Amino acid sequence: MNQVEQVLNHLHEDAKKDYMRIGTGVVKSIFRPIQPKDFANAYLPISRQQGEALKQLIIQNNFKNVVEFGTSFGISTIYLADAVKQTGGKVITTELIDTKAKVAEQNIAKAGLEEYVEIRLGDAMDTLKGETQTIDFLFLDGWKDLYLPLFKMLEPYFHKNTLIYADNMDMAGTKIYGDYILGKDELYASEFVHGGKAMLTALAA
Ligand SMILES: C[S@@+](CC[C@H](N)C(=O)[O-])C[C@H]1O[C@@H](n2cnc3c(N)ncnc32)[C@H](O)[C@@H]1O
Repeated sequence: MNQVEQVLNHLHEDAKKDYMRIGTGVVKSIFRPIQPKDFANAYLPISRQQGEALKQLIIQNNFKNVVEFGTSFGISTIYLADAVKQTGGKVITTELIDTKAKVAEQNIAKAGLEEYVEIRLGDAMDTLKGETQTIDFLFLDGWKDLYLPLFKMLEPYFHKNTLIYADNMDMAGTKIYGDYILGKDELYASEFVHGGKAMLTALAA
C-alpha cells in the first residue's frame, strides 16, 4: 500500500465516525439554518468510489487545472492531487474554516502531495474571484447554495472541454443549481453519476 492509500484509508476510516460529529450541527438546524461552522469537526467526504472516479476523469482527460470548492479535511483533495501528479497539473482548493484547512494541509502533506495543492482559506466567492487561469475541472462540494453563484463566477474560465462535477445533487440545497444547468441544455450536457448523488456537466458542443 503506498503513502496516498495509507492516508486515505486512515481518513475514510476516521470519517465513519462523522455521524457523532454531525449530530450537534443537525440539532442546531431546528432553530436556525445550518452553517458550515456547525460541521467544523465533520469530514462530510466523498466516497472512495467517487474519489477513484474523479481521479480517473482527470487522468483520462489529461486535466491540469483543477479547482475544488470545499476542502474539509482534504479527502477529496488528496484524490484530485494524486491525479494531477500524473498529469503535471495543480489543484486549487478552498475552505472557509481555518481549523479544517490546517488539518487538510497536514493530511495532504502526509500523503506527500503538498506540491500539487494550493489551499485558499476563506469564502470561495472571494478566494476564487479574479481567477486568471482556465479551469479544466471544477469540483463543487462546498455549501450547496453557492454552487450556482460560483459556477457563474467561474464560467468565463471554462473552455470547450471543461468538466464540472457537482456532489450532493440529491440534497435539496442543490436544486437551484440542478434546475439552472438542466434547464439550459443548449449550453450544458449533464449526466447523473454515482446513483444520482452527483452530476457531471460538460459544455454542449
Ligand atoms: C462537504 S464538505 C467537503 C468535503 C470534501 N470535499 C471531501 O470530500 O473530503 C464541505 C466543505 O465546504 C466548506 N465550505 C462551506 N462554505 C464554504 C465557502 N463559502 N467557501 C469555502 N468553503 C466552504 C465547509 O466548511 C466544508 O468543510
